[in-house]
Amino acid sequence: MKIMQADVKVGRAEAESAEVVILTHCEQESLSKQDGTPIDKALGGSLRELLQSKEFEGRAGEILVYHTQGKVPAKRLFLVGLGKKKDLTLDGIRQALGHAVKRVRQVKSGSFTALVPSVTPKGHSLIEVAQAMVEGAILGSYQFTAYRSDNGAEKEVGRMTILAQQKSQVRQLTEGIRRGGATAEAAVLVRDLCNHPSNVMTPSRIASEARTVAKHEGLTLKILEQKDMEQLGMGALLGVSRGSHEPPKFIILEYNGAKKKDDRPVVFIGKTITFDTGGISLKPAENMEHMKADMTGGAEVLAAVRAAARLKLPLRLISILPVAENMPGGRAMKPGDIVKTLSGKTVEVQNTDAEGRLILADALAYAQRYNPAALVDIATLTGACVVALGQFAIGMFGTDEKLKAQVQRSGQKAGERVWEMPLWNEYFEQLRSDVADMRNIGGRGGGMITAALFLSKFAGDGPWVHIDIASTDWSERERAYIPKGPTGIGTRLLIQYLIDRSL
Ligand code: BES
Ligand code: ZN
Ligand code: ZN
Repeated sequence: MKIMQADVKVGRAEAESAEVVILTHCEQESLSKQDGTPIDKALGGSLRELLQSKEFEGRAGEILVYHTQGKVPAKRLFLVGLGKKKDLTLDGIRQALGHAVKRVRQVKSGSFTALVPSVTPKGHSLIEVAQAMVEGAILGSYQFTAYRSDNGAEKEVGRMTILAQQKSQVRQLTEGIRRGGATAEAAVLVRDLCNHPSNVMTPSRIASEARTVAKHEGLTLKILEQKDMEQLGMGALLGVSRGSHEPPKFIILEYNGAKKKDDRPVVFIGKTITFDTGGISLKPAENMEHMKADMTGGAEVLAAVRAAARLKLPLRLISILPVAENMPGGRAMKPGDIVKTLSGKTVEVQNTDAEGRLILADALAYAQRYNPAALVDIATLTGACVVALGQFAIGMFGTDEKLKAQVQRSGQKAGERVWEMPLWNEYFEQLRSDVADMRNIGGRGGGMITAALFLSKFAGDGPWVHIDIASTDWSERERAYIPKGPTGIGTRLLIQYLIDRSL
């Protein structure tokens, strides 16, 4: 998909010649004096009439298409609802633009101009408003058509313009567009990588995607092959990949934009299982195809390091992708097998479907060599996360109050909200093994928690946060700016965290 280009210009809605002009409006409010009244006047008072007759009320998700018939230079005016003013959030703006861009596509228009909403959500800047507008528009128009021979793609909306009322707004809007473009194109990359089926997006293909990113952005890249992992003693990752013909990869990308060259890095780790059959503890057939997206975490940390480089953030970031395919081949790991992890700790593998925590264990141990200022892992880790949180919250665990608070705030801004879960050591009794240092499943109850607690044993003593995105990585239905299928949720959360951290 070609990414929509966005720019800003100073002007007036009633003078703007565009195929579509988008005017957002809050429920139960009158037209804003700034930009509503003048264009209403030019249209002979019809906007006010539409509001008075309640033909358009401004509810969230509501869109009214108005053909101007030459009364103003713009061909069409879209009235787009934002819901009640007191409830308006950044995500409300993101969703409004997501809905609107689909309508723009329906009327076969290749571009549109959107006015800055006349209300700014509490506690947010114009930068963040513009960022949300761009994110909503780009993500709302996402399509994946790589394998459709009818080339079933709808005509793309190639350009959006944000219309500023005053020159003084231009700098902030421009910065918001820059950030929104970077976060949205990152999420698009993640959706694409996760949409490709596992027969294409193999561990080797992931490695070549990482090579492409590293080359284009000038990142340092290191890829450990199977023999390197054997030498190091990554028994957990090797155990998971044994059942597959696809060799595993361990990918490390480094971006260094830090002012001081010796700055301790932020380290991201993403679970990258290119397909999770469950292994010998085979999954049921129903919906198993969703498991091509069990690499979402890895795709997200890859996209995040690309975005950090493109935004030239003043920090040092290392993204680590432990990559494998979880298959039940003849050499596969079997229940009861014991593996020795990179940390030296031994694990009894009672269920080969709990493979994410195994590859992450080795990656977390590997990350210790960087002495991270913050260590964040992100993973489609547990079905229990789906059960506990449904589809609107991401599970979060961590050892550091400050880091947890930062991640939470960034998630709120990104509209990818996390919910903290307990990381109490009492739960560790569920992970005890009779024959090894621990086992890889925690039995009935608290499945998301025991998985996180397992990881904590490998995460070291520094600030660490674990993010379980199994609840949100796949959507059963299309929403304002979220497609059916792989969502890429978590990507913008990670990048927002980096942006907020470096300000
Ligand atoms: N990849 C799955 C988790 C998952 C489930 C992600 C649903 C997205 C949607 C993970 O590897 C897994 O299979 N976990 C098991 C662990 C269990 C065997 C302890 C699970 O949650 O069932
Ligand atoms: Zn699994
Ligand atoms: Zn998995």
